[in-house]
Amino acid sequence: MTSENTRPAEMERITTPELARKFIDAQIQALRAQIGDKKVLLAMSGGVDSSVVAALLIKAVGKQLVAVHVNHGLLRKGESEQVIKVFRDQMKANLIYVDAVDRFLDKLAGVADPEQKRKIIGAEFIRVFEEEARKLDGISFLAQGTIYPDILESGPVKSHHNVGGLPEDLQFSLVEPVKLLFKDEVRVVGKELGLPDSMVYRQPFPGPGLGVRCTGAITRDRLEALRESDAILREEFARNGLEGKVWQYFTIVPDYKSTGVKDGKRCWDWPVIIRAVNTRDAMTATIEEIPYPLLHHITERILAEVPGVNRVLYDLSPKPVATIEWE
Ligand code: XMP
Repeated sequence: MTSENTRPAEMERITTPELARKFIDAQIQALRAQIGDKKVLLAMSGGVDSSVVAALLIKAVGKQLVAVHVNHGLLRKGESEQVIKVFRDQMKANLIYVDAVDRFLDKLAGVADPEQKRKIIGAEFIRVFEEEARKLDGISFLAQGTIYPDILESGPVKSHHNVGGLPEDLQFSLVEPVKLLFKDEVRVVGKELGLPDSMVYRQPFPGPGLGVRCTGAITRDRLEALRESDAILREEFARNGLEGKVWQYFTIVPDYKSTGVKDGKRCWDWPVIIRAVNTRDAMTATIEEIPYPLLHHITERILAEVPGVNRVLYDLSPKPVATIEWE
């Protein structure tokens, strides 16, 4: 570990808007000194880390930032739209939106093995990003939303977001303005930069996205049932004060069906499984005790509003033995 990747002992923890402002001002100066009049490229997932990096770079170098948002079709409902609204419409960023939905879903068609799915998503992401980078002229820097726990652990969790595997002709100098910050500090900085709460306090979302929650071989109709049921769950959690309180909550739609009755006729549809867990470090997790009336209401909404679904289940399994994700 080099010294510039080590957090100095005297570095104050950023806990207040004032400290965030100080950090932002210092970073703007540092980014301008590093980047000069050159261009910097950033892959934006919509997650909090890359969003904070984007907002810092917009303040520091404006249109010299070229942000690329790849929609791989496995994002949650409204996510790409929010990236476009916040960064292109409000912050006036130079944002390239890449609709790669068909590409990813075609590549994933018929692939049931979870690790194979992850590999395809990761590799295709790099390929799409590379193609976009090649279309651009005069890029000198690559910005990344690396945060301090990534450096400390260099664990597998971020491997699906970062684009470290770029070929030799696309090796840029790295710009990593939040690499010495912990997650809670990134959030305080994001709030001070004016990012919306739904972005700043967003729950963790895996790089392969909904792909690991649409178990087995992904189909478009089942993916849509997953996206819609997840949106209902998130909406109800927000409405009932659970947003930002529960670590991670989402739905899963497995690739099997069961019998039901709809409008007096037999139907053969998928179940939706709800998962809501609390954890400190994602190594172990406990189950959120969702009030029964809320579970009941969410169940009613999913059954009424999501096509192709005839059952709603609640996953009561802690980690261990169960992992947080189903794949
Ligand atoms: P598990 O399922 O292993 O998840 O209990 C622990 C945490 O890691 C997230 N996770 C991932 N994040 N790429 C990611 O970026 C992945 O492939 C991946 N798999 C799991 C999961 O959402 C949870 O927060």
